Amino acid sequence: MQKAILGISAFYHDSAAALLVDGQIVAAAQEERFTRKKHDSSFPIHACRYVLEEGGIDYKDLAAVSFYDKPFLKFERLLETYHAFAPSGFVSFLSAMPVWIKEKLFMKRMLKKQLAELGDGDVPMYYPEHHLSHAASAFYPSPFQDAAILTIDGVGEWATTTIGHGRGKEIEILKELHFPHSVGLLYSAFTYYTGFSVNSGEYKLMGLAPYGNPCAERTTEFRKKIVDEMVDIRSDGSIVLNMDYFEYATGLKMANDAKWEELFGIPRRKAESEISQVYMDMALAIQQVTEEIVLRLACSARQLTRSKYLVLAGGVALNCVANGKLLRAGTFEDLWIQPAAGDAGGAVGAAYTVWHIHDGNERKLNGHADAIAGSYLGPEFSDKEIRRALQRYDAQARHFDDFEDLTRDIAAKIADGNVVGWFQGRMEFGPRALGNRSILLKIKYREGFRPFAPSVLEEDIAEYFDLDRPSPYMLLVAPVREEKQIPLPEGYHEKALYERLYFLRSDLPAITHIDYSARIQSVSRETNPQYWELIQQFKKLTGYGVIVNTSFNVRGEPIVCTPDDAYRCFMRTEMDFLVLGNYVLDKREQGKLAETGDWRSEFKLD
Ligand SMILES: [Fe+2]
Repeated sequence: MQKAILGISAFYHDSAAALLVDGQIVAAAQEERFTRKKHDSSFPIHACRYVLEEGGIDYKDLAAVSFYDKPFLKFERLLETYHAFAPSGFVSFLSAMPVWIKEKLFMKRMLKKQLAELGDGDVPMYYPEHHLSHAASAFYPSPFQDAAILTIDGVGEWATTTIGHGRGKEIEILKELHFPHSVGLLYSAFTYYTGFSVNSGEYKLMGLAPYGNPCAERTTEFRKKIVDEMVDIRSDGSIVLNMDYFEYATGLKMANDAKWEELFGIPRRKAESEISQVYMDMALAIQQVTEEIVLRLACSARQLTRSKYLVLAGGVALNCVANGKLLRAGTFEDLWIQPAAGDAGGAVGAAYTVWHIHDGNERKLNGHADAIAGSYLGPEFSDKEIRRALQRYDAQARHFDDFEDLTRDIAAKIADGNVVGWFQGRMEFGPRALGNRSILLKIKYREGFRPFAPSVLEEDIAEYFDLDRPSPYMLLVAPVREEKQIPLPEGYHEKALYERLYFLRSDLPAITHIDYSARIQSVSRETNPQYWELIQQFKKLTGYGVIVNTSFNVRGEPIVCTPDDAYRCFMRTEMDFLVLGNYVLDKREQGKLAETGDWRSEFKLD
């Protein structure tokens, strides 16, 4: 009989559910996509229902429910005493006991009540430790038999960073860095101080960093102040934060504003206010410090495990700029990063810990392929369901019987400069849209602040980018090939921001960052034949096997899930065409044009 395990991540950030059947991920989704509340952290009842339905599993037939912990509940009891016994630097993981299976009674009562809504039945419950879930989410679906494991995020129960070693079905945690010393919280404190929202603005801070002036004395000065005053970076990559500067331990806010202002000489930036150069320099300084820590951690992981490969998870693993540098540093032959590296991915990891660690099942590797297969693990909708949705809106649509005809037609529309909503197959799991819930357009001058991300045919990566391997999850940043770069003019960094932004940096301007880097998604024919086919058609027409891919949502809302979500988003924004499966909608043919918003505002920083 098959054995199904439900993994749940909830109550902290980005709740999610995942279903593992006989060790294979069958489905995974974030709750926000169903409730339409961005970063929804409530119990993921909709996501649970969806994954069970996708797997054809009744709740009572589950072998286990594995719950990824909410760290703060435990924290509140520990906070008052942390000063007394927070160790400095790494500590060894001393306990050989499977401490992660201990029950938390208060949690159990609450969960039982929620789970009862899924059905009757007394399903055994497990509570793997936060960072073990992250480690499991990175190692088990990776293509490696043996790999070092690095998990870096804000905070777990105690651990904020761990180094582990994965071999076959075993995971051993070797080192832990404990609260309050945290790379993720350090980065979040800068997210806060530069006026972005903590837990969602980190990606914007990373996007801002390339606009910092690397030659400016101020940037060097900021960097020096950070490492001299705020964070002591040890040679092994462990860090000790000077808690005079941080206030997250009291739970009120991230940073001591007065101390920061005294140190950096600038006040905290007000949210939504204009971003001046000084904050860009600050973003660059903290990005550099973060990269240095990540590189040192990776070196430690290599020394401790002697493994050739590294897998990563935890929120900081979404810093694709640091990941790109890590890859180029050559510490490891290859990396694999869990695409849902943040807390949503904990649901997948929690399920895996039961299957491999508790139950002792062996892993089955599939050559070079990972077990996530493009991260297309969410709901999909048949043409029949799409047709019904369109009828509800009285929408005008054309059906293509032949998908190749459709891709040829759409590729031509994109080549003509149209913006196309592209909705196909199963929704992506994790924060990025990877070609199933995407807005697509031709590469041209960009209008917003952050450059767009390119989707490139996997076989064409090396033609455009200085990258010698696939980047299927948009988690690696690499430079645009040197011969495609246009050198910066003299005094470039002193020019006004507007001039710098619109300087033509390559013949792929919309996807080339100010420092010539690009946040790449490679598209494989194997994992996404529809999207691959579309880009292939675009290449036939234009000679370019690369297009712009941005997530299918209005600013501030989660990525669309259903055809209804997609249609409503299409009608509210500047998209010209919408493709839903084999249906194509032309905006001009739709009767009631709703208020037209601007999806491009997504790219304005905050
Ligand atoms: Fe986490």
